[in-house]
Amino acid sequence: MVTLPGNNNILLRAEDLCKTFPLPEGNGVFTALKDVSVTVRNGEVVALLGRSGSGKSTLLRILAGLIPPSSGEVQSGNKAVRGPNPDVAMVFQSFALLPWLTVQENVELGLKARGMGREERRARALKAIDMVGLDGFESAYPKELSGGMKQRVGFARAFVVQPLVLFMDEPFSALDVLTAENLRGEIGDLWEAGTFPAKSILIVTHNIEEAVLLADRVIILGSNPGFVRGEVQIDLSRPRNRATPRFKALVDHIYTVMTNPAAKVAEAVTKVVEVAKPPTPQKAPPEQFPPLPHARAGGLSGLLELLVEQGGRDDLPMLADRLRLEVDDLLPIVDAAALLGFAKVAQGDVMVTPEGHAFATSTILESKEIFRQQVLDHAPLVTLIYQTLKEKNDGEMRADFFLDILDEHYPDEEAERQFGTAVDWGRYSELFEYDARSGWLWLPEVASGGPDE
Ligand SMILES: Nc1ncnc2c1ncn2[C@@H]1O[C@H](COP(=O)(O)OP(=O)(O)OP(=O)(O)O)[C@@H](O)[C@H]1O
Ligand SMILES: [Mg+2]
Repeated sequence: MVTLPGNNNILLRAEDLCKTFPLPEGNGVFTALKDVSVTVRNGEVVALLGRSGSGKSTLLRILAGLIPPSSGEVQSGNKAVRGPNPDVAMVFQSFALLPWLTVQENVELGLKARGMGREERRARALKAIDMVGLDGFESAYPKELSGGMKQRVGFARAFVVQPLVLFMDEPFSALDVLTAENLRGEIGDLWEAGTFPAKSILIVTHNIEEAVLLADRVIILGSNPGFVRGEVQIDLSRPRNRATPRFKALVDHIYTVMTNPAAKVAEAVTKVVEVAKPPTPQKAPPEQFPPLPHARAGGLSGLLELLVEQGGRDDLPMLADRLRLEVDDLLPIVDAAALLGFAKVAQGDVMVTPEGHAFATSTILESKEIFRQQVLDHAPLVTLIYQTLKEKNDGEMRADFFLDILDEHYPDEEAERQFGTAVDWGRYSELFEYDARSGWLWLPEVASGGPDE
């Protein structure tokens, strides 16, 4: 048994975690997490914030002992974690209820697994069900409940085991906006009331406001591969008020960091800390083809038009709000605009560049021309496809050729998504055509001179 060196305040500690997954067809491995160290102390709420694919869920699963790290170690309550970690309970985004069991039976499940007797199980489950506001629904089945109620069961099932640390993996993101807001508020109230059935909380989210509302500390993960960029102390008193300038400043700072992979994470607004350099990126994607942000040309054009209407500049959190988008949906579009030189991001604001202005305000033919130029200058994967097609006498290629190249660097699904985005951009700018049914790519009749006029 390994003991934690002299810090009883730490409930959970992970050191130098790495996690790799095998790539398809023996193409080596994909690194999801690299040298990740995190701690959870007694009495705090920690939020893990990162883009889609930065390894948040993978990290949570490793900490919960559901999957082993490839290297590194997790210690929980002074013990090395070697299998399912009994000190934690998890609330999942997808609720993960068993449909054939009633609310009460779903909640009791974890206790049964821990060998608790029937009477005590029953009493504890009733208390947990009461705590989440579901009394009266003990014998209902999941299918009879709304999404919000299902997630209440998800919470009760975690509460009932009274874990040291409660894990939540995007617990509100499958719910509609109002239901999510309501439940988030109730969880916040329970925490503030001091009667929370866990000592600490570790919540995974991609929602910046959610992180600032709930957490004492926000750990920001970067991608490719997932690593800890730094952390921000949320020094706001509770209950928290979104309308205060300090709340907005923290949200803005985190937005800035999230939209700029090179930005330093300031731990406190007055204090900027040096952040470890990102690890050397894996194999080829960053050098040869930096990953394309998954945004469609049409969405990009819509965003830029809206920004131009707003005077060419807007605050990202407000923009997300106005568009009713989650950060995760807005950021790839903003990233794509930045990659293609159509916008710049600074201090939580997004600003349209002259190229972006021209793209958003010209005629459709002119905008395609501008888009084509920016794509050829800034999106190497699209350029590679275009150049390869040009070198062929017949101007045709099978998509598999490019998918095979991408497969060497990305997990299956991501390789396809990268290809999909490249095709969308290539088609929009009329650099090439693609038929998904036959799997062929080809040069359009007039490739470089623009469409016939
Ligand atoms: N079992 C697996 N096999 C192969 N690759 C995996 C596996 N699990 C995760 N990955 C890859 O690891 C990376 C991190 O995935 P993870 O689900 O942890 O990200 P995340 O930050 O939780 O993303 P999201 O916000 O979309 O939930 C992704 O590129 C994903 O495709
Ligand atoms: Mg996830």
